[in-house]
Amino acid sequence: MCGIFAYVVYGVERSRDDIAAVLVNGLRRLEYRGYDSAGIALDDIVNPSTGERKPLVIKGPGSVGCLAEQVATALRSSPNFKVRQHVGLAHTRWATHGAPSVENSHPQASGPENEFLVVHNGIITNYAALKQVLGKRGYQFVSETDTEVVAVLLKHLYLEMKAVCDTVSFPRLVMLMMHELEGAYALAIRSQFFPGELVACKRGSPLVLGIAYHDGEQVHLVQHSEPAKTDASRSPASTPGAVESEGTTRAAMSAAETATANGRFESSAVAAARQRDGLEPASSGSVAKSTGGRCFRRRTPRRHSIDFKVAQVNLDCELPHGFSFNTSTSAPDSGMGERAGGVELFFASDVSALVEHTREVVVLEDNDVVHASADGSVDIFSFLDAESQSLLTQTRALCTLDIELEQIERGRFEHFMLKEIFEQPESIRGTMRGRVQPATGTVLLGGLRERLDDLVRSNRLIFVGCGTSYHAALACRQLVEQLTELPVSVELSSDFLDRACPLFRSDVCVFVSQSGETADTLEALRYAKRRHALTVGVVNVVGSAIARITDCGVHLNAGCEIGVASTKSYTSQIVAIIMIALLLSADRLSKQTRRREIIDGLAALPTAIERVLMLNDKLRMLAVGVLRDAVSILVCGRGYQYATCLEAALKIKEVSYIHTEGIHAGELKHGPLALIDQEMPMIVFATRDNGYEAICNAVHQLLARGNPQRMIVVCSEGDGHFFQGLGVGTTLEVPHTADCLQGVVNIVPMQLIAYHLAVARGLNVDQPRNLAKSVTVQ
Ligand code: AGP
Ligand code: GLU
Repeated sequence: MCGIFAYVVYGVERSRDDIAAVLVNGLRRLEYRGYDSAGIALDDIVNPSTGERKPLVIKGPGSVGCLAEQVATALRSSPNFKVRQHVGLAHTRWATHGAPSVENSHPQASGPENEFLVVHNGIITNYAALKQVLGKRGYQFVSETDTEVVAVLLKHLYLEMKAVCDTVSFPRLVMLMMHELEGAYALAIRSQFFPGELVACKRGSPLVLGIAYHDGEQVHLVQHSEPAKTDASRSPASTPGAVESEGTTRAAMSAAETATANGRFESSAVAAARQRDGLEPASSGSVAKSTGGRCFRRRTPRRHSIDFKVAQVNLDCELPHGFSFNTSTSAPDSGMGERAGGVELFFASDVSALVEHTREVVVLEDNDVVHASADGSVDIFSFLDAESQSLLTQTRALCTLDIELEQIERGRFEHFMLKEIFEQPESIRGTMRGRVQPATGTVLLGGLRERLDDLVRSNRLIFVGCGTSYHAALACRQLVEQLTELPVSVELSSDFLDRACPLFRSDVCVFVSQSGETADTLEALRYAKRRHALTVGVVNVVGSAIARITDCGVHLNAGCEIGVASTKSYTSQIVAIIMIALLLSADRLSKQTRRREIIDGLAALPTAIERVLMLNDKLRMLAVGVLRDAVSILVCGRGYQYATCLEAALKIKEVSYIHTEGIHAGELKHGPLALIDQEMPMIVFATRDNGYEAICNAVHQLLARGNPQRMIVVCSEGDGHFFQGLGVGTTLEVPHTADCLQGVVNIVPMQLIAYHLAVARGLNVDQPRNLAKSVTVQ
């Protein structure tokens, strides 16, 4: 939930108003993550004669658009000015504690003087206990948020440290604070006590650092092979452009690529499935991935990532400088004399807020503490404490983003949801590109290659996900069972955790997630790892936590999905899971005819979706004419279409707010028939498969009790007449495909109906009430 954004300027001239614009624009890009309140903090001049600056905090409930107006008004009342050093914070909130209000909006402050200002994504679970302790020491709280305790705790720890030490370091202070916190968080913090500095840290919530270096060159990393023992022993910067990374230098990049090709580590660039799979270039994607020897790798990297080590620290040791880059005007050893360079740093919950500023990013790991110093250098520490050590890795990658701005913009479409529905022929092609080879009847998934034997020999497959991702797994269960002949279960992440589902080493757990950050799914993944099951990711966002933590996996390569309602990721998830099933059954002679049918179906799928999209006008009229004023809608099907019913119902309810229920046709007589009256719209999936006869019976039963004019039947091309003959009010003929792929075709008209219903009811399609794209709290 929520987006945090921080913008740091060193050695580049920027006006206050430019800085405010960057902060607000960063929030616009992140608004889909959460949108009940928004706020920014930046410097303002309080004394024009001395140039003295103080933080200006502008925040409140409402959209980023409302905030932009408030900011414009606030800035008009004082003169603009230029700076060469600045730390700004921004936040778009999705409340966990406290209703949207000015007080509860972020940045949260340590007190009226704003000594510490904090933006937070996540939830502090022990905030009440901390609040009580701090309250007893006389600290006042003005908000109901869990975040405020972070700011107040920092102030308290600072004052305590200051009483006994001459110098207090900002990152050390933050580590002390982290030691006290429980829960999930990504935080960006600025302080009046540490002018020009910023510390960002994370545990459980996503955070990405973007670096824009302004000397016409790329980012200059300074990697210290042995972390220095004390701050004083900091090494001089090395030659600009020379990067030492795991013993290699920048000059040795080709060697690093060779290493990548050999699978020693995966480097870089990103985006595409193929990246993960070593195949075709991807049309879209996000961040490069470095997996430290696991199975996600690609064969021919187009772009680079530079792996570097971070200094692992605990509360007892002095802080070394592990990884840094330097923006100072002199570049020792360079022989180049003075450099007029500077740097802009961007911290964001996801890369969509970074693309327009920089392509150089570092995806931060849990327990990372990033310190941007007032001299323009940056250090990343990996903060060890007792609980977190086992999952910590020492290597990070400076990656090049492979994502175009147009991917995160609406273009000619009025809403992201509509754009993403119409992108499906292409997103599905992206998922299959270089992987499904119809000519040879083979499927290649490079991201699974190294664990294929373990997968084939496993005892059971357990798919885990939430919402749409859960439905996608459910849509594939029958096919996966049939092709692998393994027991297959599909679990809601939260229920899987609640039940502490028994797991064994011989189990394979497949985590399905568009964002790769969903808290319940992530927690379920950690649970599975603790029980030594083999973990597989089916994830869209490259570089996301689930993609990084799983042992192996498949990226969707569906491109960025911004609309809160998942559309193209659902269809790509089904395709990806079916590809996994095809891969696992490649050697089974008895399955070859079935595999061939599915592979041919996959090849024809994008065209089939293009034909369904041509129904758009008819679907709009249906939404406006038949469904707009419905109080409730029933969606009914069976077999492969049961998951389509659940997903169609979720789509309609989440964007149109009409109560919609997905019902298994076999269950109608066991209760739901009682709901049928003359008003109730009924949608039935009656496309041809081996359940066709049974679903036709269900249609008869519904027609006998309900209003035929309010029935919509989705049927195979050529069958419309038959259902019209029965009196069905509306038939939607869709192309026929293999039974296991039919849900990919059938869901598209439902996505369009949901979309048109939301528009017809005047609702905010891309930002539905009470929902957010990324659910990073449990
Ligand atoms: C569906 O439209 C929603 N966006 C939601 O159900 C979503 O699928 C769920 O929150 C899981 O998200 P994930 O795929 O990013 O893990
Ligand atoms: N828990 C914090 C709050 O309620 C942050 C929520 C968020 O991630 O937006 O303010």
